[in-house]
Amino acid sequence: MRFLIFVLSSLTALIVAAPLAEPGTDLETRASIDTGTHCGTWDTVQAGQYSLNLNQWGINGATGSQCAGLKSLSGTTVSWWTTWSWSSNGGVKSFTNIQLNTNLNKKLSAIKSIPSTWNWSYSSYSMTADVAYDLFTSNSAGGSHVMEVMIWLANINAGPLSTSYPAKPIASNLSIAGKSWNLYEGPNGNTKVFSFLPTSGRYTSFSGDINLFLQYLVQHQGVSSSEYLTTAQGGTEPFAGSATLTTSSFSMSIN
Ligand SMILES: *[C@@H]1O[C@H](CO)[C@@H](O)[C@H](O)[C@H]1NC(C)=O
Ligand SMILES: *[C@@H]1O[C@H](CO)[C@@H](O)[C@H](O)[C@H]1NC(C)=O
Repeated sequence: MRFLIFVLSSLTALIVAAPLAEPGTDLETRASIDTGTHCGTWDTVQAGQYSLNLNQWGINGATGSQCAGLKSLSGTTVSWWTTWSWSSNGGVKSFTNIQLNTNLNKKLSAIKSIPSTWNWSYSSYSMTADVAYDLFTSNSAGGSHVMEVMIWLANINAGPLSTSYPAKPIASNLSIAGKSWNLYEGPNGNTKVFSFLPTSGRYTSFSGDINLFLQYLVQHQGVSSSEYLTTAQGGTEPFAGSATLTTSSFSMSIN
């Protein structure tokens, strides 16, 4: 009897103690994911509602390399990194990014909100790159791109697409999602590209509704609200140099 009580109370202690075993981690939601290092041109790694895409689309003829990996996924908050070293030959080498894979292909008029948070840092700013959200729309669900919307959180010695250079904003000092932006417009092949850039400095901690940018374009820049949002990503476009981007937390969802 004594022994049984001892066993039972020990079991109870174990069960009660278990959730306290790892202070600071969210045991309910922390997911098991591939945290390995990936360096292939088109490698992609799944993490819940996201995928990490290496997307090294611009490396033909370039010298250098880039790798990336996931660190953690807790609920819908993902942490990831990418390290790159590219020699200068002008263009963008890659857009290594976290892509949202759920609730896409809604008409802009049907989207209620796109809450997102993104905390990040670069190991060096003596290089050329941007850190940006990248969204695409189409005239049909899953169809070809008609518009690209970039929201740059940092312009590191680079610059946005524009119809003429030096690039001049088509709107300045826009207050959207609690920050100030200048808006640029230019073509990427047949796709019209709108780029929101910080009015000054870098936004290394963003928390806001990405839909407010789309709604601004519908209300003030002639964008049709019957376009479909087909792609939503956040990543970095390196041009030249070497550095590591660390995203300590990123989350995005479409409502
Ligand atoms: C992001 O950074 C801000 C400012 O440092 C902080 O208040 C916030 O808690 C961070 N968010 C997350 C999800 O870590
Ligand atoms: C934007 O704001 C800055 C700083 O307040 C000001 O110097 C500049 O004239 C403004 N630009 C426009 C186009 O209003």
